[in-house]
Amino acid sequence: MKKIGVLTSGGDAPGMNACIRAVVRTASYKNIEVVGIVAGYEGLINADFRKMDSSSVGNIIQKGGTILKTARSKRFMEKEGRDEAYKNYKKEGIEGLIVIGGDGSFKGADIFSKEFDVPVIGIPGTIDNDLFGTDFTIGYDTAINTVVEAVDNIRDTASSHNRLFFVEVMGRDAGLIALRSGIACGAEAILIPETKTHVDKLIKQLERGWKRQKSGHVIIVAEGDDAGGAFKLAELVNQKFDKLETKVCILGHIQRGGNPSCMDRVLATRLGYEAVLALLDGKSRVMAGQVSGKITFTALSKAVKHNHDAVQSIIEMAEIMAL
Ligand code: F6P
Repeated sequence: MKKIGVLTSGGDAPGMNACIRAVVRTASYKNIEVVGIVAGYEGLINADFRKMDSSSVGNIIQKGGTILKTARSKRFMEKEGRDEAYKNYKKEGIEGLIVIGGDGSFKGADIFSKEFDVPVIGIPGTIDNDLFGTDFTIGYDTAINTVVEAVDNIRDTASSHNRLFFVEVMGRDAGLIALRSGIACGAEAILIPETKTHVDKLIKQLERGWKRQKSGHVIIVAEGDDAGGAFKLAELVNQKFDKLETKVCILGHIQRGGNPSCMDRVLATRLGYEAVLALLDGKSRVMAGQVSGKITFTALSKAVKHNHDAVQSIIEMAEIMAL
């Protein structure tokens, strides 16, 4: 194998650049040429390629986002789009692919690999941390630290006015951003898609906090599949509990940016390095992950949305901490 392609796909995540850097530097060390594919699978369909060498990835390890841009490609979901992508892949002389993305990107990679016998290694790059086969995805640590910093700021003003804040965080239908950041912020309640929200139980928790004269109240709400749903929830709660002035804060895309944390830079570097070695070693249709500190490879067909067992074991603890 003398030439490989690398792309970032789906929602961007802090640490993707550190991963691209590790892929390029490891390949260069092994005298393998690297083609950067711009804007995920769209770049493969448009033959939008950049030659990359060690100097093209200098001074990016600390940068959020992805220098290769990213996209969610509807065309790649169609056979016609993948045919075009494969034509360009072959014409460019690419012999293997590294896909940095989430579960949607891996589904496309697995189909593409099967259809055209293209060696593919996936690397988990998403802030949602919702993939089976790795303890953490690249971007998750940075995202939860961004949330913690934002909620600490909100708590200052919530305490000053003795207000109740509903803070909505990302994660799509996975609640892991909400769960860990909620624990770290001492949230009064953490509402996640993995567990049913009981409004009456929530009201009781708020009543208890109010009676204890807590100054400032914060509830972390995972967006679920209804970004902005925190407004409706706040209205529902207000109908039954009007002792506190209520505000809603949707953190949104600040959770996707920022300089990657040390943990994300190291995870990204490790997985980028191991993915190249795996490709050269003849592996394909697997995702490189880190489980209990060890590098693992999980079939792409299994490296999909997954509710980590950790969720259940720490939900009860989170509720006790909010008493
Ligand atoms: O999958 C990552 C993610 O940030 C989700 O947490 C969020 O719901 C979604 O992407 C937002 O997508 P977009 O950036 O297209 O609005």
